[in-house]
Amino acid sequence: MNVAVLYQSLRGGTERAAHRIGEAFEARNATVGVYPVTQFDAQFVLKADLIVIGTWTDGLFGIAAKPAQIGKLNALPSIAHRNVAVFVTYEISPKRSLAGLADWATERGADVVATAGLRVRGPRRPDLTEATATFADAAIDALSRAAA
Ligand SMILES: Cc1cc2nc3c(=O)[nH]c(=O)nc-3n(C[C@H](O)[C@H](O)[C@H](O)COP(=O)(O)O)c2cc1C
Repeated sequence: MNVAVLYQSLRGGTERAAHRIGEAFEARNATVGVYPVTQFDAQFVLKADLIVIGTWTDGLFGIAAKPAQIGKLNALPSIAHRNVAVFVTYEISPKRSLAGLADWATERGADVVATAGLRVRGPRRPDLTEATATFADAAIDALSRAAA
């Protein structure tokens, strides 16, 4: 199974989350490529069984939060009829931005197989191990159900 992880990060938190997600899929025997949305291996993305797309939550901290820099995600190759898992990073709440990113992918014709909100900052640096494992398991389960 090939998994392409594409991320948009401002200060590095989403980049870190993307790499941790990649590690979770690698631990489940996937071949993984992790790339910023502005610089990716187009061949690898084209043949990936699953495309993971993530960005950070942008808003007025609670009000009108949305997936950040969606314009850069709009420049990605078509995700129509592809298996896509989406994630957002956040500080207060991932609810609106995650729903917004899932809607964005659905509107572009993707099959959204899993979603995750990941808190990457805090007084103690949050441990992403459990959340990324749950995310990877959910995506792999959905793909194997679809293939059955
Ligand atoms: C301009 C700006 C607005 C933000 N607004 C929100 C918000 O409304 N809700 C929230 O939960 N986090 C918000 N955040 C926090 C970021 O989503 C969070 O720190 C994210 O992990 C940053 O990812 P990065 O390190 O890849 O840039 C905001 C951050 C910035 C810079």
